[in-house]
Amino acid sequence: MKNTHVDLTKPGLQGVRVLLGVTGSIAAYKAAEWVRALIKEEAIVTVMMTSAGQRFVSPLTFSALSGNRVYHDMFEEDQEGVMAHINLSRDNDVVLVAPATAQTMTRLSRGMANDLVSTTVLAAQKPVIVCPAMNTNMFTHPATQENIKKLEDYGYHVVAPDSGSLACGEVGDGRLPDWDVAREKLLQVLCPDDLTGQNIVITAGPTREAIDPARYLTNRSSGKMGYALARAAVRRGAKVTLISGPVTLSEPPGVQVVKVQSAQEMEAEVLSHAAEASVVIKAAAVADYRPLVEQHHKIKKKADTFSLELVKNNDILARLGRERNGRQLLVGFAAESKNHQQEGLRKLTEKNVDLIVVNDILGKKTGFDVETNQVTLIDRTDICQLPLLSKEGTANQILNKVLELLSAR
Ligand code: CTP
Repeated sequence: MKNTHVDLTKPGLQGVRVLLGVTGSIAAYKAAEWVRALIKEEAIVTVMMTSAGQRFVSPLTFSALSGNRVYHDMFEEDQEGVMAHINLSRDNDVVLVAPATAQTMTRLSRGMANDLVSTTVLAAQKPVIVCPAMNTNMFTHPATQENIKKLEDYGYHVVAPDSGSLACGEVGDGRLPDWDVAREKLLQVLCPDDLTGQNIVITAGPTREAIDPARYLTNRSSGKMGYALARAAVRRGAKVTLISGPVTLSEPPGVQVVKVQSAQEMEAEVLSHAAEASVVIKAAAVADYRPLVEQHHKIKKKADTFSLELVKNNDILARLGRERNGRQLLVGFAAESKNHQQEGLRKLTEKNVDLIVVNDILGKKTGFDVETNQVTLIDRTDICQLPLLSKEGTANQILNKVLELLSAR
């Protein structure tokens, strides 16, 4: 299966050409929502349908949503006189069959070519993703399970259906999963798997240093950069452990997430997970100080001024730099408001790390809680300023640098 990779500097599925095969399940209406979501992130979508699929949702719905002609006749020729089933997969990066009925999966698993969807999949030299959706008894039937196994043996990617109440009134496995699950599979299939074999520990978010039961000290980190790194690394085949301070982000699929609150908790988790890691990326904004004493009862207001005695937290990254084994690659961040490069170089040597990612916390598009970032990568031999990119795009560039440094060893 020839794999066309997504442009790793672009956010998500922008520019990716998706060929969507819609077959005859009630979940076909959900596929219409998937087309909307794909178009929203600027993917290019072409839809092909079986005749049963067309009984559930009209081709007009899909052509209106995708802005493209919908294909259903396998003998239809395009302008160049080539049969649709040949050019459709040639012209697209990935084939997504969703919803895939038991009948369609039987056709695909037997290599049948008696409608446009099955013929196109059989002729496709592109990655194929199949999303089954059907009644739970049909799904769990050994015949369907055997078909799924066959499809996987052919190298197709089968997305497990969700469990829950089904349109037929029964409860169980068989629901078309949420778009996020399919989107993640598309990205995973289209990303290079150049981080396979790497065990990466990533930290993200702020820490909270308790003052009393009602209050804490923290900082403005949203965790978005660290989470983007975790998503990107797992898509590229790495085993990822994400040690996260308190954030409001959803957990990236396929990532082991360890939740912590304080810098001391983060330190304990990082040290225990880093022992096995080939790469540690410290994107977390760890609080430099914590209150010397955590009060067990709420502090009452009395005097007009109030001072809090603070004690320094250990520098986790510097400790990793001192104690690391020779093969481990260490990446730190430097969140700066001035003297960016100078501070980055200082942290690179003082903390004994391989790469420092410097970002400007005062920039409107690079500061806290925004979707973009513009960073400078400083390693021992090179300083490289990246353009303004989405945080996912920045994450992929950092991971490219990590790969470069690993292969230079
Ligand atoms: N870091 C850490 N433990 C700390 C403080 C920072 O592991 N107690 C890590 C951060 O995760 C980041 C790097 O060190 O990867 C730099 O953090 P930053 O807050 O930019 O700098 P500091 O080391 O705190 O130095 P300064 O306050 O002087 O800027």
